[in-house]
Amino acid sequence: SGPDTVSPTGQPTGADQARTAQSGSYLTTAQGTRLHDTDHSLKAGPRGPVLLQDHHLREKVMHFDHERIPERVVHARGAAAHGTFQSYGTAATVTKAAFLAEDEETPVFVRFSTVLGSRGSSDTVRDTRGFATKFYTSEGVFDLVGNNMPVFFIQDAIKFPDIIHAGKPHPDREIPQAQSAHDTFWDFVTLHTEATHHTLWNMSDRGIPRSFRTMEGFGVHTFRLVNAEGATTLVKFHWKPQLGVHSLVWEEAQIINGVDPDFHRRDLADAIEAGAYPQWELGIQTFPDTPDQMFEGIDLLDPTNLVPEELAPVQPVGLLTLDRNPSNFFAETEQVAFHVGHLVPGVDITDDPLLAGRLFSYLDTQITRLGGPNFPQLPINRPHAPVNDMLRDGLHQTAVHRGVAPYRPNSLDGGCPFLAGADTGAFIEAPVRVPESTRVREAPESFADHFSQPRRFWLSMSPLEREHIIGAYTFELAKCYEQAIRERALLVLANIDPELCGEVATGLGLPAPAPTVPLADVQPSPALSQLGRTWPTD
Ligand code: HEM
Repeated sequence: SGPDTVSPTGQPTGADQARTAQSGSYLTTAQGTRLHDTDHSLKAGPRGPVLLQDHHLREKVMHFDHERIPERVVHARGAAAHGTFQSYGTAATVTKAAFLAEDEETPVFVRFSTVLGSRGSSDTVRDTRGFATKFYTSEGVFDLVGNNMPVFFIQDAIKFPDIIHAGKPHPDREIPQAQSAHDTFWDFVTLHTEATHHTLWNMSDRGIPRSFRTMEGFGVHTFRLVNAEGATTLVKFHWKPQLGVHSLVWEEAQIINGVDPDFHRRDLADAIEAGAYPQWELGIQTFPDTPDQMFEGIDLLDPTNLVPEELAPVQPVGLLTLDRNPSNFFAETEQVAFHVGHLVPGVDITDDPLLAGRLFSYLDTQITRLGGPNFPQLPINRPHAPVNDMLRDGLHQTAVHRGVAPYRPNSLDGGCPFLAGADTGAFIEAPVRVPESTRVREAPESFADHFSQPRRFWLSMSPLEREHIIGAYTFELAKCYEQAIRERALLVLANIDPELCGEVATGLGLPAPAPTVPLADVQPSPALSQLGRTWPTD
């Protein structure tokens, strides 16, 4: 009956079961009228013209014509799985979020993705990977929309269209499809040196993961947790794979691109089907919520920064297990709509300017991608908590809302249930002080250092990982047409490390420039190396 013919878990119920199963002994039109033939158009005689009055032909072809929806503007290619999140309760002192309470089990849906390629591109390209998790908590949906790298290219979302325009295929030739080997990408990341850190991660082995199952995940931004007493703590979220972190080597990635472009999605689905359920521990790094929101000299609002685990250890708070493959790629993997603004009581945002732009962008893009504002009603997006919003009508509305007064308070249909105990279990923004200031379009001074953290990353790499990084820069930059861009890229590398710059310069047949800023005096962080640290199964 009406909107409830799909249960909150996405399973059809009652009369709708036959329709969604698309099986049975006879076919019908979309209106339920039984058909006797779906292979031949209605014609004026066996060899005569097809008749416009063939309503079945028109319905069938019309629907097919509209099967495609726009792919995501970024992260178009993805693979996903269902699972559960089992909370340890270790975060209960810093957050009141119910899904992080002791022994709480929460259903989840996780979508992994590449960023730049289109829906049909290859899996093992050099790129960042998305790691987006939807928690269907008892208090509403919480989305942790992260990547497999802990830092981002830009510090302000106003540059997001620019970095993506630069990273996507060239507008004239639409090449390359999904690789960072082209002029516009390197032009952008060398002109906007805040991108140096993320680019270095991309050129490292992290850019070519062995499997989704062997990737770390990061929330990137600093978030703010709120506990039952109202005390706040700043945190960064981490996913640690139980299988350890593993990458391909470049030659493997190239061969697999040709032999099996679906390598990562096949690997994920096969593992789950075989019962080898991938698992990740969720962990948090915690920082005092001080007025300056800095930690050990690191600006926590700058998403090009990470906080070394040696300075703030990752504390495990729960275990994610993926144990069920989607049964319908379109309905689940394609129609899922993540949003960094899907928050629950106990998890709040900070003033990171990149996060601010994301808070606008996700819902906005989904209006186009999913055809109107009613995509929260799609089975995969439905909260498992009761919904009582006052949203009405709109394209693709499937709910038949009742009541004549969709506003509160009202004196017509039930008064105002929100007044009594309205705050109980509600999401209430943490009362954070907004600094007194004047309106400006500028970055803070604490966002100005673009080279210390890349240098720390480079110094933390083992010799083999450094060799891979040198090889990656040399290969990608060699494919740039513009000599000036290659030379500018070497200037950036000189500010990270002379050995890195020198080796890449030799590979490109160019002179190695001198640094333009003093080399940062930083200590390595062994936790950044894939080879230099131990993982649960090592
Ligand atoms: C999609 C991560 C920055 C706009 C995604 C997805 C992930 C992700 C994982 C794929 C979600 C899925 O699987 O459906 C991140 C991270 C960022 C970041 C970790 C930085 C820390 C931004 C910024 C913007 C943005 C700054 C815009 C201002 C989008 C859009 C989509 C997307 C429009 C497509 C969403 C959809 O069609 O449903 N992002 N992103 N992202 N992101 Fe981001």
